Amino acid sequence: MSQNNSHNIKRYAVVPLALFLLGFSTLSQSQLFFPDRQEALIERGRLIFFNETFNGNGRTCGTCHRAENNMTIDPAFIATLPDNDPLFVAEFNPDLQENFENPRLMREFGLVLENQDGFNDLASNFNMRGVPHVLAQPTSVESDLGPRTGWAGDGAPEDGSLRAFAIGAVKQHFTKTPNRKEGADFRFPTDDELDALEAFQLSLGRQQELELPLPLKGTVAKQGQEIFLDPATGKCNLCHFNAGANAAPGNPFGEGNLNFNTGVEDLRHQPADLTGEKMPPDDGFGSPGDGTFNTPSLVEAADTGPFFHNNAVETIEGAVAFYNDDAFNESPAGFGLGGIHLDATEIVAVAAFLRVINALENIRQNIELLEASGHFGFFGFQRDQTRLAQAIAETEDAREVLAGGGLHPRAVAHLKKAEQLTRQAASSLFGRHIFINEAIRKHRDTRAVMIDAQS
Ligand code: HEC
Ligand code: HEC
Repeated sequence: MSQNNSHNIKRYAVVPLALFLLGFSTLSQSQLFFPDRQEALIERGRLIFFNETFNGNGRTCGTCHRAENNMTIDPAFIATLPDNDPLFVAEFNPDLQENFENPRLMREFGLVLENQDGFNDLASNFNMRGVPHVLAQPTSVESDLGPRTGWAGDGAPEDGSLRAFAIGAVKQHFTKTPNRKEGADFRFPTDDELDALEAFQLSLGRQQELELPLPLKGTVAKQGQEIFLDPATGKCNLCHFNAGANAAPGNPFGEGNLNFNTGVEDLRHQPADLTGEKMPPDDGFGSPGDGTFNTPSLVEAADTGPFFHNNAVETIEGAVAFYNDDAFNESPAGFGLGGIHLDATEIVAVAAFLRVINALENIRQNIELLEASGHFGFFGFQRDQTRLAQAIAETEDAREVLAGGGLHPRAVAHLKKAEQLTRQAASSLFGRHIFINEAIRKHRDTRAVMIDAQS
């Protein structure tokens, strides 16, 4: 069962007795919190995502897509989990010791085993991939060539859609044995569950594209944005339009969330390869694959490393520097674009831009979370605690993302204060609104340091 939402929350939980004494709640839970049917569907999806094991090995979707860690996992987060966490089933379930996961690669590099090309030859036909966040899906799935999900765009069975992705995920990750027999090893989600899971995932994170250029104030980040947008130097915007996952309009290969072979597989010293563990080359989209991978969104990137489908690069600066590399410049996509050549100051500037837009997105989410907090009745207290715990995690991320690039020290100081206020809100019941409003104000101050006033 899920433990995902609960660890942070316990720390801030106040004895619910006080709420009991308030005794004001006469409405039913659903009337009180989900007046709207869509909201009720999303809430149902949330519960399935974090709690439903589909009669499998104990994992849930939330085992790998963690609410308190930007809907993904990385080695630092994995290191905080207890050894009996269902993520580690391959370490303690004798039926799953072979051909299911590679515990060393999971713990050291956050890699998960996937059989994208089928379950026929488990011993040699697999890929080791990082876990993508599942944020901003409304902006990053559709293309002229159909829906594209997962690192290669073919993660979902059948039509490749987000809705179908859950079916593939259950068969891949939830099975009790490598036989993967429906009924004995797991059950598939029902149509209703698929609808709810889809609605929940579509509700996560950003619902709209940015509109670049943004009126940024930071000297270096502003320069980075110019390089990013420039079709002659950075060229990033051609594939990551508005720093999202879609190609710029007019792309000769089509529009939407496209696939490219950018040569990540040709990097010479990929960390997971250095271990000597078995790492078959990942052939990308299709079976057999065509070597292409699906363009990810960059707004959410800076705080969801390591980067690329194989977690080959640890830092955002390193991920930008990849585009200077022979691996990229000699790849079909790199060669086709006439190459990308950035010097060290330009690499750091583009990374600074990616750090700043990530922090701005964290702040946007925080304001949204805080504005939704503080309104709860008898049943809503736990949900409020979850929101505030998430706001604390997002605030920490924004702070680390900026501080890690030496950017906007004043914003970092404001964020520290905002985090403290959010913690105070979470541990108080009656003064909660005051702390929440103060925290919102601090987030607005933070934003004003980074960007000229917008609506
Ligand atoms: C054991 C870890 C693990 C579990 C459990 C897991 N996932 Fe994932 N998820 C991954 C990995 C690894 C990928 C990348 C797959 C690929 O490249 O095709 C991924 C990719 C995704 C994507 C694609 C995101 C994108 O941006 O294209 C979605 C959607 C998703 N998972 C949803 C789910 C759902 C729904 C469940 C539960 C039914 C689930 N996952 C369970 C590890 C996991
Ligand atoms: C030809 C299209 C194309 C261009 C141009 C391009 N990218 Fe990418 N980008 C991709 C694809 C495809 C991936 C996924 C590659 C993989 O994982 O194998 C990617 C991945 C990334 C990632 C990793 C994201 C993550 O979450 O792991 C970053 C960061 C990134 N690109 C930044 C940039 C920057 C900065 C530029 C400009 C210097 C740029 N990209 C130019 C297509 C492109």
